[in-house]
Amino acid sequence: MSFPARRLRRLRRSEKIRELLQETRLSPKDFICPIFVQENLEKRQKVESMPDIERLPLNEIVREVGAISDLDIPAVMVFGLPSKKDDAGSAAFDEKGIVQKAISEIKKNYGEKMVIMADVCLCQYTSSGHCGLIKDNKVDNDSSIETLTKIAVSQAKAGVDVVSPSAMMDGQVAAIRLGLDDAGFSEVVIMSHSAKHRSSFYAPFRDAADCAPKFGDRKTYQVPYTNLMEAIREVEADIKEGVDIVMIKPALAYLDVIAETKRRFNVPLSAYSVSGEYALVKAAANQGWVKEEDIVSEILYAIKRAGADMIVTYFAKSAAKMLQGNL
Ligand code: PBG
Repeated sequence: MSFPARRLRRLRRSEKIRELLQETRLSPKDFICPIFVQENLEKRQKVESMPDIERLPLNEIVREVGAISDLDIPAVMVFGLPSKKDDAGSAAFDEKGIVQKAISEIKKNYGEKMVIMADVCLCQYTSSGHCGLIKDNKVDNDSSIETLTKIAVSQAKAGVDVVSPSAMMDGQVAAIRLGLDDAGFSEVVIMSHSAKHRSSFYAPFRDAADCAPKFGDRKTYQVPYTNLMEAIREVEADIKEGVDIVMIKPALAYLDVIAETKRRFNVPLSAYSVSGEYALVKAAANQGWVKEEDIVSEILYAIKRAGADMIVTYFAKSAAKMLQGNL
């Protein structure tokens, strides 16, 4: 008789035993659903490079959030498209700005049923398309974080639950925390795009949100995609500055960064599966080359398996339907 083989297949014998042994679970409650709201838009508008994603006029917001809430998704992340851009990005902190209006509409109708998150950045609002303010042809860090703080406070006044700075300016979390606390919003949560990489996976988003830089690129502020330890230093800095939830972005090509962050820090961790990840899957699925639900399931489980506690994904609605067996 030979030595008994280690029979790993024993635990894969039946559907039920596989269910029992499943290490990673996914639920609609893990998702954060991005929504784009555009000022002065008359009706919903398709985003060419992101099939099934639309830019919404303000009067569609409540209906959309209702549909998201019905799917048991606990959070939305609001991105705005203003009708006017300027050098100061002033539409971003206008108390009557499109995002501020969207936040108060959602708050009024779904205040208790939805965690309202909003992007805090400048690229949709500045004439330069950069995430900060321009001084001497450069993206200036310290004046930018003052403006980012004004944006966060204006969103807090509108009723936001979570502000999500994505500009990758140094010190943005500390500045926003101080600004929020000074204005009486110590309960507003900061979920920072802590390690946001300089990625070509953002291309479809720039089409959706009209925020491509008009000159240069984002290499002086976003993390190089070659660097894991630098990403970890970004996370570390945000934790020191008092962040509540950190985010790794993009997700799929950065599972090592997610895993390393999870291993090193005891902090809630989100991952942003970005527009390019969405577009790639949609393109292949629409050609019939892969089965969308299967690929989406595998990707979202992988992001969770790597260590994400929550996932910002454009598949939030369709994946929630899939998980509830309605697809
Ligand atoms: C801008 C911002 C970007 C994304 C979210 N916020 C684009 C960028 O940095 O160019 C990308 C999100 C996505 O691709 O889904 N601050």
